[in-house]
Amino acid sequence: MDEVNAGIAELLASCFPFVDTAIPGEEVGPTKAPAAAASHKESYPKLPLDVFEVILFYLSARDLKAVAKVCRFLSGAVKREHAWREAHAPYVEHAFTHVLTTRFPPPKGIQINMMPILAEDLYHTVPEECRGYLEIINLCAMQTKGVIYLTIDEHEVLPGEAHRRPGLHVESPVVRPGDPLARIAKSKGEEKSLDPVFLAWGQGMIDMVTKKPLDGIYFGSNVARSSRVYRSMVTSTAMVGHDGDIGSVRHLFPRHTDLGAGDIFWMTDRTPHESFHVKKKVYRQFFRLVTGPIGVWFSKHNTPNPAGVLPNCVISDIDKFADYEST
Ligand SMILES: [Fe+2]
Repeated sequence: MDEVNAGIAELLASCFPFVDTAIPGEEVGPTKAPAAAASHKESYPKLPLDVFEVILFYLSARDLKAVAKVCRFLSGAVKREHAWREAHAPYVEHAFTHVLTTRFPPPKGIQINMMPILAEDLYHTVPEECRGYLEIINLCAMQTKGVIYLTIDEHEVLPGEAHRRPGLHVESPVVRPGDPLARIAKSKGEEKSLDPVFLAWGQGMIDMVTKKPLDGIYFGSNVARSSRVYRSMVTSTAMVGHDGDIGSVRHLFPRHTDLGAGDIFWMTDRTPHESFHVKKKVYRQFFRLVTGPIGVWFSKHNTPNPAGVLPNCVISDIDKFADYEST
């Protein structure tokens, strides 16, 4: 009986580390009792586990063994779930970082999406109407060379609407065999397996020596708490839709930060984020600069550069929305 009690105490301790798991009637050492009692009081609600403890008190030895088996199973299942989450949707300290807080320029109703510009020649390749953003672009593009992609979207947003894409997602889309973009993945030599693949959409990582971002995506707006970014990264294609949607696995990403007005953040193309529906009418200015490689540039959705800078990737004429619905 003592063995069973000790086993249950151990299992409960592993399953519920925040609870005093001493079995009723067990002698508790003088150093253990105060610490356990303190952690019990200061952490989670006590009642449900107290009820569980009382139930244990009245169980026969046979039933206690059965409970021990259940606890052992649960403990194993929890460990397996933790391991899966660490492999497929890990907490990553550097999934995003705050870069600067700035005042946005006076709005002009600019609507450009993923326009290719040249990092080494911003002055001549950023259109005249977007020059108010030049300082922000310059600060974000300092570590970069070659073609980068600028989005500026300025317009009024009505209550209940989201300015940009709502719903939790990552920027990197997932391409599966048979998708309209599968041919592009093949042309990039990623067809060796029929497994789904992430298509690059800026990539991004933090240089551990300089602590500065490499590639990745810079973004922000002039409206506080209208965007949220999560301190995790998605590494499994299984949980990601063709458009990067990960709304069905929201529970895997507990830690987040909301952007303030004028905040410019950096993130990777696999960092979960979302844009919120606004509560009242606002004029929102959204800024984004993709500084890393992208797998495809959509001629039907993206804005060509009047100065003639071309995307340095495959150009696709598909309609991201209609063509997917028809497949
Ligand atoms: Fe996004």
